[in-house]
Amino acid sequence: MITNSPADQWTDTNDQDFSGEDAGVGEMRELIKATVSAYYTDKIKQHGPTAQGVDWNSIESQELRFWQLTRIIDRDPGFSLNDYGCGYGALVPFLASRFSSFEYCGFDWSKSMIEEANRLYSDRSRCRFVAENELMQPADYTIASGIFNVKLGHRDADWQRYILDVLHKLDTLSTGGFSFNILTSYSDPERQRGDLFYGDPCFFFDYCKRQFSRNVALLHDYGLYEFTVLVRKQS
Ligand SMILES: C[S@@+](CC[C@H](N)C(=O)[O-])C[C@H]1O[C@@H](n2cnc3c(N)ncnc32)[C@H](O)[C@@H]1O
Repeated sequence: MITNSPADQWTDTNDQDFSGEDAGVGEMRELIKATVSAYYTDKIKQHGPTAQGVDWNSIESQELRFWQLTRIIDRDPGFSLNDYGCGYGALVPFLASRFSSFEYCGFDWSKSMIEEANRLYSDRSRCRFVAENELMQPADYTIASGIFNVKLGHRDADWQRYILDVLHKLDTLSTGGFSFNILTSYSDPERQRGDLFYGDPCFFFDYCKRQFSRNVALLHDYGLYEFTVLVRKQS
């Protein structure tokens, strides 16, 4: 069953304060990287390469997100794609079931995620996984599923700045377009959790229109407490 509740989508709460009151921008990003990466490394070690291992509550909701995000792809065969925050590479078999040929690069901060992904899919041709941002190259598309949700103890303002910074990275990595998802601020207030970030869909739609492309779609109609943005750079 697909849950509508973000509170059901992550099982642990986290009371730690990572607000880094005095941290500069660079230090803040390093702190985010260290804390978020440790959080997901712990998940994959506990649950292995499963939906729970990347902190989703079901394979159905994981795939429903992939369906929305891959709406950015408007050519087949022969596209290239970066998977930003790839986890153990669950997007690879999903793409293979829908598209006849593609070149794929998965990137994740967590080395344990990359190890699992390599174990499962490194024998696939035109498919590679990297743990360093610099090892990614521009592709037709970049997809980011679930990387903006778990903010742990970081402040909302810091987290939103961090998201915008990553969106600019997605833009530079993508010649045809990119897509990402974020939990929605329209989630029922009583079900919202302090360790998760809930973004304003209108703000992110507007930001993408003004910064990246005239062709932007906001998808907020697929039954999860989140939204997906598609930024189409060429039509
Ligand atoms: C919720 S999981 C989703 C994994 C995968 N996209 C999926 O849907 O199966 C988020 C993943 O993104 C990674 N991640 C989060 N922020 C990241 C960042 N800024 N750069 C690289 N990886 C990141 C985490 O380590 C984690 O493996």
